Amino acid sequence: MGTRSPLLLQATPLNAVRGEGVWLHDADGRRHLDFTAGIGVTSTGHCHPRVVAAIQAQAADLIHGQVTTVMHPRLDELSDALCRLLPHTGSVFVSNSGSEAVESAVRLARHAMGRPNIIAFQGGFHGRSIGAASLTTSKLAVRAGLQPLMGGVVFAPFPYAYRYGWSEDETVEFCLAELDYILATTTAPSETAAIIIEPVLGEGGYVPVPDAFMAGLRERCDRHDFLLIADEVQTGVGRTGRMWGMDHSGVRADVVITAKGLASGMPLSAIAATPDLMAAGFPGSQGGTYGGNPVACAAAVATLQVIEEEGLVANSASRGDQLIAGCRELATRHGVIADVRGRGLMIGLELRGDRDHSAGEVVQAVRMAAAEAGLLTLPCGASGQVLRVIPPLVVSEAEVSLGLELLDEAFTKVSAG
Ligand SMILES: Cc1ncc(COP(=O)(O)O)c(C=O)c1O
Repeated sequence: MGTRSPLLLQATPLNAVRGEGVWLHDADGRRHLDFTAGIGVTSTGHCHPRVVAAIQAQAADLIHGQVTTVMHPRLDELSDALCRLLPHTGSVFVSNSGSEAVESAVRLARHAMGRPNIIAFQGGFHGRSIGAASLTTSKLAVRAGLQPLMGGVVFAPFPYAYRYGWSEDETVEFCLAELDYILATTTAPSETAAIIIEPVLGEGGYVPVPDAFMAGLRERCDRHDFLLIADEVQTGVGRTGRMWGMDHSGVRADVVITAKGLASGMPLSAIAATPDLMAAGFPGSQGGTYGGNPVACAAAVATLQVIEEEGLVANSASRGDQLIAGCRELATRHGVIADVRGRGLMIGLELRGDRDHSAGEVVQAVRMAAAEAGLLTLPCGASGQVLRVIPPLVVSEAEVSLGLELLDEAFTKVSAG
């Protein structure tokens, strides 16, 4: 009998056999409140009936319409729908995963700009393929033992105010000054193709980018004439209470990367940019066997319709307000909670360790206690010191309240030892 590779680590002990809305069911018939959303993927909840119907109908018509061989109507529908949501773009290229879309964005930036270097941020996560891992510093597991990684990547400090122990304004000022220093000492603007940033630092610890920092990046991209790439793989499609994480600052990126919540769990990713920028790339340099397959595109078109028609972006904002307020209230009673932050339904609780346990160990203990009580959560941060809660965007007020009760129980159990 085959066994699962030990390369695969799992954040919860659950063996899931069925999903419905915010709930996962195990083989023993027990249900679990899923505040992981499959790492931010099941935007419309597990197996939303309209997404299921779209997948079933498309599977009966055409499963594989290979996009470097033929066109298919679902790809056109998806491109239209995405460009309506990103009106400053106009052109879409599709692939399967977030990592692949990040690679596409880097390939496009280097080709279109004719320059080699990419500036990424400390703590950023952009994927596990070698190119995407080269832009990633969220934790050592993604990079260790893989050198030499792709060259031409320069890291700048991310405005993680809690980590620095400064106010947000001080942190933004410092990080923008360091970025200018990097442009004066390490990568000349004339050698720099793009800056890539997640609107909310994801795997690195759930830290929203302050609006002033995003505006500072846009100003430098314009002044020096390089591209701003927004990695919206985790923040996009309503996750942060706006359709795009960038919408909080009002700053527009030249290239937007989306995946995860886009197709409710079918593998699909995309980059969007202006037709002129896409045309400045290298024709035929991008493609793949499966990217943009009709079934995944049908799921994405249905997902975007459900998000619009069921008002899920507004739900993300209001349920996010409820959840973050509830987590802040927990912080008043549980001393291990050091910082609560986030946007919409992308919320992180940074914990503190004690004399005997690191913060990462406390997060793990709380998460396991929560899982036993029926609530699934995830860790993030360089040492797993942040407990993250990311329910599907369909989560109800009662489900948020229940999640908070279960979290409260878990913190109480852990502090009782
Ligand atoms: C911001 C960001 N970029 C890229 C990726 C990589 O996506 P994938 O795991 O689909 O390759 C992720 C995945 O977590 C992500 O959060």
